[in-house]
Amino acid sequence: MAGKDNGLPTSIVIFGASGDLTQRKLIPSLFNLFCKGRMPKMFRIVGYGNTAFTDDSFRAHLKEGMEQFSDAKYTEKEWEEFASHLVYVKHAYTREDFEQLSRFLDEWQGEGDNRIYYMATPPDAYPKIVDLLGETKQLKEEKGWRRVVIEKPFGTDLASAQNLNEQIHKALNERQIYRIDHYLGKETVQNILVSRFANTIFEPLWSRNYIDHVEITVAEKVGVEHRAKFYDKVGVLRDMFQNHLLQLLSLVAMEPPVSFEATALRNEKVKVLSAIHPMTEDEVVQSTVRGQYKGYREEEGTDPNSTTPTYGAVRLYVDNWRWQGVPFYLRSGKALKEKFSQVVIEFKRPPHLLFPASEARDMTPNMLVLYLQPDEGIHWRFEAKVPDTVAELSSVDMEFHYEDSFGKTALPDAYERLLLDTMTGDASLFTRADEVETAWGIIDPIIHTWEAPSGKQPLTFYEPGLWGPKESDELLARDGRSWSMWDGKIH
Ligand code: BG6
Repeated sequence: MAGKDNGLPTSIVIFGASGDLTQRKLIPSLFNLFCKGRMPKMFRIVGYGNTAFTDDSFRAHLKEGMEQFSDAKYTEKEWEEFASHLVYVKHAYTREDFEQLSRFLDEWQGEGDNRIYYMATPPDAYPKIVDLLGETKQLKEEKGWRRVVIEKPFGTDLASAQNLNEQIHKALNERQIYRIDHYLGKETVQNILVSRFANTIFEPLWSRNYIDHVEITVAEKVGVEHRAKFYDKVGVLRDMFQNHLLQLLSLVAMEPPVSFEATALRNEKVKVLSAIHPMTEDEVVQSTVRGQYKGYREEEGTDPNSTTPTYGAVRLYVDNWRWQGVPFYLRSGKALKEKFSQVVIEFKRPPHLLFPASEARDMTPNMLVLYLQPDEGIHWRFEAKVPDTVAELSSVDMEFHYEDSFGKTALPDAYERLLLDTMTGDASLFTRADEVETAWGIIDPIIHTWEAPSGKQPLTFYEPGLWGPKESDELLARDGRSWSMWDGKIH
């Protein structure tokens, strides 16, 4: 639940401020919030890192980022005003330097101040930074709040995530921790909840009684690009499934929470994730596909013998009253034909077909498709009678596009929402410790089988620019189903 503004000045300290994330996402989002008048009355953004920036060169570097990565329209005056809130502190990650940082921040304090510490560093630095903040007493909430934002990946498996939680809990209360999954900041992802729970027409159908299966796709056109060195150690399950895809699944499958408040929402998400049983080795072999795009091993930064998966398809079951027996098919990959993310809810066929079989042969089941990106919207597919026939059927779509209803520029970047929520103290769209661990509990057994020396689940190779390995189609075909595709029309 959003906290009240306590009127104190707010410092946003970004560790790893010279990196990509700050330039591409954090600063453009903070600047947009500033232009919309949503920043606290008094604030400053403190970049912290090893790079030798002055305040001026830091500002110039961030301005370049705005030009390169942001479509925002703004005036020089607006930028200049915003830039006057930006400062840079060049320091290392040592106790001495953190004491200096603490003194520097205290100077600005007056009656007290609020602080956000944002981890935009490589993940192995998180525990050390939290330790140093704790040791130098920067996390004590005596005169104002202290919040720490932690970027993904949160751990590399269940054990490391538990470890990380344990370490950061030594210095922080859970309510001070904001674990980012930027998918939750996307408007279309939040709209899954609104569609489900602000309308009465969907919920009565939202169960095994009417739904045949659910597909969740996050497809990317780009390969690993400049992140190959990082990605090669991570792969698609850790990079996309443990967080983004399981978050999407939990929003689609969760029970209605009693309120939109963080605890209620997160309790329901944990409940649904806990209902997914961890797979045995044999189940992993039967229910998953592990792929790598051809040419990946030649990308700069990858191991020439790398077995890192860049594509995954996984069939999961949510073992509870609502979803028993309904498969959830999840897939994500790089170097595919198009970038798009969608959730398809495919309904069961009518129990009895009264139309002549010859006329109704092309009947497709009803589908509700939530388009998360790029052409954000919702489509309903249903059957209609083709005019001037006895009873020939054809599928038609009813479409809602965000752009048509709310305008071209209505959708802010996910980080804008998440940064604003951090400032107002609303943790609903951030993942809680038990949620992250439960998600790892689902992914861990798949990783173990995929990485086992026995090679039980072989790596398949797919052509870049297409739709991934044929084994992914076969996974659904074995169940008598196929992936729904989208190129202006659902197939
Ligand atoms: C990130 C992954 O979390 O999400 C990237 O690390 C991926 O590998 C990105 O490209 C996709 O995000 P979006 O918002 O572009 O779908």
